[in-house]
Amino acid sequence: MLLAQAPIMTDRPLLRVSKASKQFAPALSFGDHIAGWLGQEVDQRIVHAVDGVSLDLHRGEVLGLVGESGCGKSTLGRMMAGIYPPSQGTVQLDGVPVMGAGKKPLKTTTRIQMVFQDPFASLDPRVRIGETIGEGPLVHGLVDPANVGAYVAQWLETVGLPAEAADRFPHQFSGGQRQRVAIARALAMQPDVLICDEPVASLDVSIQAQIINLFLTLKQTLNLTMLFISHDLGVIRHMTDRVAVMYLGRIVESGPTLQVYDHPQHPYTRALLDSIPRLVTEGDELVVFKAIEGELPSPLAPPAGCHFHLRCPFVQERCKTVVPDFSDHPSLPLSGRHVACYFPIS
Ligand SMILES: Nc1ncnc2c1ncn2[C@@H]1O[C@H](COP(=O)(O)OP(=O)(O)OP(=O)(O)O)[C@@H](O)[C@H]1O
Ligand code: SF4
Ligand SMILES: [Mg+2]
Repeated sequence: MLLAQAPIMTDRPLLRVSKASKQFAPALSFGDHIAGWLGQEVDQRIVHAVDGVSLDLHRGEVLGLVGESGCGKSTLGRMMAGIYPPSQGTVQLDGVPVMGAGKKPLKTTTRIQMVFQDPFASLDPRVRIGETIGEGPLVHGLVDPANVGAYVAQWLETVGLPAEAADRFPHQFSGGQRQRVAIARALAMQPDVLICDEPVASLDVSIQAQIINLFLTLKQTLNLTMLFISHDLGVIRHMTDRVAVMYLGRIVESGPTLQVYDHPQHPYTRALLDSIPRLVTEGDELVVFKAIEGELPSPLAPPAGCHFHLRCPFVQERCKTVVPDFSDHPSLPLSGRHVACYFPIS
């Protein structure tokens, strides 16, 4: 087992997302086709799930991806894992595209593993746990058949399960245990990058804490590079070194997690952090939490300019037409921060 190392911030990131976008064609139902044949109007607008995202993941760091439901976190995570080809732009692992021109995943994608939200759906109910964990490493030559039992036992132990678990089926485990199995399966592939998409969201709160603690232990003991997707700001604060905040398909702010939490510079980040439920008083009134004004616009018709302009208290004319660059603001006091806003909060 490798010992933990501090994140290595070299010029070349391990995983680089460059101007990547993902659009989905409308999923037309049978009824829609009938309506089309009858000459009736059918909504055929494209979903702009991810819109020109550039993001780096450095070796040994845990990067959080946070944002409201539907903002494109899972789609971006799947593009980074090589599951979805980008519609435009690239995703590169160590300088090699994870998706080839023919849009088939390259070999690199075995070096990127994913843990999903629902551990039950991601495990085959008819296959014993030992086979689920051992199959990938066997196929890819990470272990030989004579040693696969010991190999599986080692990864079960790493995630806090007994070696005997290998002989059981998924339904014989609780939700938290199944997520441990899913984590063991991903780690057994010895990935360079682990992408976790809401890995605790479907678990009971008490079990969530156990799985978060497991991730924290793995972060300490293994040289893991992780993208950790969650809409839970508390989990992201706990788990990550750096955070990227996503709004309607775009990254609006990124930086060291504690800096972003303590001094958010994008109005959306501030609104998101202000919406964490807590008991505070304003004058004589008890305010439970401040909701973000308005609703997330539809990715079928994202607003022009800054996507947040319909909800932003600081909006100016320029924000409504021209997309703010996601670039360094040298005038800002904290280093390593990026913010896509014409009028960042100082
Ligand atoms: N396969 C698909 N086909 C069509 N539209 C899709 C597909 N996958 C995602 N979308 C749409 O893309 C947008 C972004 O979805 P995505 O699942 O990436 O958001 P998310 O931030 O992960 O949301 P959540 O927090 O609810 O998981 C949504 O409008 C969603 O409906
Ligand atoms: S660019 Fe303008 S609308 Fe967008 S967040 Fe900044 S101030 Fe608000
Ligand atoms: Mg999602």
